[in-house]
Amino acid sequence: MLIKEVYLENFRNYDRQKIELNENINVFFGKNAQGKTNILEALYFCALGRSFRTYKENELIHFGNDASRILIKYDKNNRENEIEIILHQKEKKVIHLNHIKLNRNSELVGNINIVIFSPDDMIILKQGPSQRRKFLDILISQLKPRYLHELNEYNKILEQRNAVLKSKKVDSIDIWNEQLVNSCEKIFTYRREYVDKLQKELEIIHPKLTNQLEKIKIVYKTNFQNKEQFLALLQDRLSLDLLRGYTSEGAHREDFEMFINENPLNQYGSQGQHKTAILSLKMAEMLLIKEEIGENPILLLDDVTSELDVERIESIFENIKEYQVFITCTDVNTVLKYDCLTKNIKLYNIDRGKIKDKGE
Ligand SMILES: Nc1ncnc2c1ncn2[C@@H]1O[C@H](COP(=O)(O)OP(=O)(O)OP(=O)(O)O)[C@@H](O)[C@H]1O
Ligand SMILES: [Mg+2]
Repeated sequence: MLIKEVYLENFRNYDRQKIELNENINVFFGKNAQGKTNILEALYFCALGRSFRTYKENELIHFGNDASRILIKYDKNNRENEIEIILHQKEKKVIHLNHIKLNRNSELVGNINIVIFSPDDMIILKQGPSQRRKFLDILISQLKPRYLHELNEYNKILEQRNAVLKSKKVDSIDIWNEQLVNSCEKIFTYRREYVDKLQKELEIIHPKLTNQLEKIKIVYKTNFQNKEQFLALLQDRLSLDLLRGYTSEGAHREDFEMFINENPLNQYGSQGQHKTAILSLKMAEMLLIKEEIGENPILLLDDVTSELDVERIESIFENIKEYQVFITCTDVNTVLKYDCLTKNIKLYNIDRGKIKDKGE
């Protein structure tokens, strides 16, 4: 898969900017706050219909404007495609794929496959379970178009069950239990399948990043193994759920845990082990997407050269040199010093929302 061109109009600090992209390495460099990450954000938005920085879409519209437009031309399976997204201050965004209007975000996801490496990745391992669920949900929804739809259905049923719990009128609870259980089964089947697939990729990539010293394991954490057990748990927890006014078990509470040499990473892992584990997880995501869709995903590397040490950067760069990559950095030499990247590289000097000059 290859992004050939991106056009931004009133997007973040860009007024009007067309960028023709290189098929291999693209480096956006420049001082702080010039608009480097904004370009990655636009690419990510076209892949997932959301930003990786904010839920508030009107933050993406250039100050003082009513609307913003992103247009991307890309090749996938040897076909040319085009995605156009128009964001409005007061109305819902409008998405077109090859000039056909999409009705839902879930129809967009999966067209452009993307993996982002960013300094914020550490929160996946260090913060609460919702960040880990989000990581899994994004990965699966890129590969299985039905998944996002199933997840939306699950959330709707959950909301309705919670409303019943709050109202304390539980005559209909059995109906909601049954619906929740059936919907949850679909979600956890997908999630378990993909955690197992990630494990297989991690077994290959993690030893390479640690001179064969560490073994890594990812384990899906859940309090039930099948829908019968989940139903029994819901019934068991009913009085507690009524007291709290929400559903305390289900796909919205599940998690995964990582182990290094059999020890839980979040309890015993050093800072360096966390960093390597997150890199392995991201690379596993990248390899899994490649394997499933038969094409390389697009890679976004936001500021990684300032965040990681030389060894870890080298191991990323060695593994991604065949992909189409978008890198941001303040000092271009922090990227150019790695020989493995210098063969097919295009540089863009970003200055106050404009590309100042381009070079090979
Ligand atoms: N809606 C908006 N309208 C206009 N400008 C915006 C908008 N949103 C953000 N900006 C500006 O975009 C700039 C930040 O862009 P970005 O995050 O891409 O910077 P960067 O070049 O990646 O910087 P750093 O090296 O610090 O990461 C800031 O100057 C900010 O004020
Ligand atoms: Mg940035």
